[in-house]
Amino acid sequence: MAGKWVRMVTAQTPTNIAVIKYWGKRDEALILPVNDSISVTLDPAHLCTTTTVAVSPSFDQDRMWLNGKEISLAGGRFQSCLREIRSRACDVEDEEKGIKIAKKDWENLHLHIASYNNFPTAAGLASSAAGFACLVFALAKLMNAKEDQSQLSAIARQGSGSACRSLYGGFVKWIMGKDEDGRDSLAVQLADEKHWDDLVIIIAVVSSRQKETSSTSGMRETVETSLLLKHRAKEIVPKRIVQMEEAIKNRDFASFAQLTCTDSNQFHAVCLDTSPPIFYMNDTSHRIISVVEKWNRSEGVPQVAYTFDAGPNAVMIARDRKAASLLLQRLLFHFPPNADTDLNSYIIGDKSILQDAGIQKKEDVDALPPPSKIKDDIPSHKFRGDVSYFICTRPGRGPVLLSDKSQALLNPETGLPK
Ligand code: DP6
Repeated sequence: MAGKWVRMVTAQTPTNIAVIKYWGKRDEALILPVNDSISVTLDPAHLCTTTTVAVSPSFDQDRMWLNGKEISLAGGRFQSCLREIRSRACDVEDEEKGIKIAKKDWENLHLHIASYNNFPTAAGLASSAAGFACLVFALAKLMNAKEDQSQLSAIARQGSGSACRSLYGGFVKWIMGKDEDGRDSLAVQLADEKHWDDLVIIIAVVSSRQKETSSTSGMRETVETSLLLKHRAKEIVPKRIVQMEEAIKNRDFASFAQLTCTDSNQFHAVCLDTSPPIFYMNDTSHRIISVVEKWNRSEGVPQVAYTFDAGPNAVMIARDRKAASLLLQRLLFHFPPNADTDLNSYIIGDKSILQDAGIQKKEDVDALPPPSKIKDDIPSHKFRGDVSYFICTRPGRGPVLLSDKSQALLNPETGLPK
């Protein structure tokens, strides 16, 4: 393995949104949850992490850069992932470059890792899920580990619980498992992204000045203090998981939406049942719930599901493109952009939904009439600037390797960020 070579692998991994939530650990170190959870993988074209991992005999320590800035790898979660994946490394031979790495060499070789999110890390959009999933997936390829996606998910889980669900596209279940060592706490794919490709996802990134409680410490406090969580994990979630699997299998949007909204609301109720109580949603989140609930009720059948993670951002899942464009009209009516924000940066991702909604320019937003069906029920208030921006997306695929060298984040000669 002597020489000056650098061997690199680049991968791209999606983020995911839980429709049956993970909240609470039964083992903090191994990250073992108190209940199963189910998520939808989001299209990596709009929300993903790209990670390049490199190995070279010339590296003298493990180093990592996130969005161009060097970060410490000393944390227990990084160390767990690195240890687990190193122990599964196999022989690697790259004839073209004349590189030969024997299984035993991996213990002494150091790594460089560069990671980049195509969305703002601070926006509270599960960047750790995509990040740890990408790290583990890329390292497994670099080290020629033979583990399948489910086994890799059990390693990514030790970086961040929700990361295990980002090893697959489409609809994913994290099985909580029973073993004490966590080997059976892993993700499986329920259906791929093509199974239900009518769905359209709109995320409202809600403006917030409040410093939120992290998921990790929030769920620790919930486990310590909430009786409602015990009831949820034991009595409610097991039944909901079965119903949600059925709804996904049958593309039954009414059930899917009802379960998604109820489970999000119960997760936030559990946060409120924590001592001291945790508030993740704010007034804007509540207004969005109200817009969706009233519209769904006026239509008779659900058009849109909403769900909120550990923050105020709303993730809305519309039954089809028609519902998504009507939803966008409603959202833009109530939450128009600030005067200094242009429409192009206010709606990002799949902008074709905007065209479907008949909106080309900012004046079209100002000209939107009050949503007719709900006109009589709620005052047509406008909350300008309360949403930072919207992301239009859809269910997406799982991790992929990027073979195009130009997409690597590390220089192939030096192994340092480009
Ligand atoms: C509300 O996976 O971020 O998004 O395992 O401590 O890293 P750790 O927590 P994390 O928690 C995610 C919680 C959630 C619900 C979910 O994604 O299921």
